[in-house]
Amino acid sequence: MKERLQKILARAGHGSRRSAETLITAGRVSVNGAVVRELGARADPETDTIALDGTPITVAARHAYLAMHKPRGVVTTARDPQGRRTVVGLLPPGLPPHVLPIGRLDRDTEGLLLFTNDGEFAHRLAHPRFEIEKEYMALVSGTPSERALAALRSGVEIDGKRTRPAEAAVTHPPHGYDAREGHTWLRVVIHEGRKRQVRLMCAATGHQVRTLVRVRIGDVLLGRLAPGTTRPLSPR
Ligand code: URA
Repeated sequence: MKERLQKILARAGHGSRRSAETLITAGRVSVNGAVVRELGARADPETDTIALDGTPITVAARHAYLAMHKPRGVVTTARDPQGRRTVVGLLPPGLPPHVLPIGRLDRDTEGLLLFTNDGEFAHRLAHPRFEIEKEYMALVSGTPSERALAALRSGVEIDGKRTRPAEAAVTHPPHGYDAREGHTWLRVVIHEGRKRQVRLMCAATGHQVRTLVRVRIGDVLLGRLAPGTTRPLSPR
């Protein structure tokens, strides 16, 4: 079946439809050996040879969507030059090609990480424009005052730029975690994804994050998924 080239490229894991359009207009995509620059061009991934920079692309036969409980100490990359454990190494066997993490969690952060080979879906979840909520449980040093919580909510400065409004409140330990003497569990909900954002926000109010767990992305909950395991997402 013929489909628009940008749709095929996104499905093959080459970014969102929008970024695939840039590849096409830049003359990097060919169909059966001929470079195609028009955005309306269509091809059939089953019968045509579609190449990016001269290398034929592999279109996944199906889309895969998974949730993982990323354990602490594992890096969010496909391959680590330093040989550390990666999240991709924890995926179950038998998945179609190019199933990759959507966004990232720091090495020491644990919790919900989503995976897909659907470039369009990944883009909709990761791009700040769509403002998908990300909910974290953070074990912080000390007892944040009402003023510190208000600062987290209204925004703190990180690298000269203020964070967007967030939710922040004292909470109970999440499932599988304990309370700790001299520390407080906070529930923090953000809509952005700046590097080490929750750790830096808490540090800006004088509270160091000791444990950070992502428990929700949009409507998808971590639930009781055990660390290091994955589950497929339901169509909904
Ligand atoms: N905020 C952090 O500080 N680290 C993460 O991994 C995610 C959000």
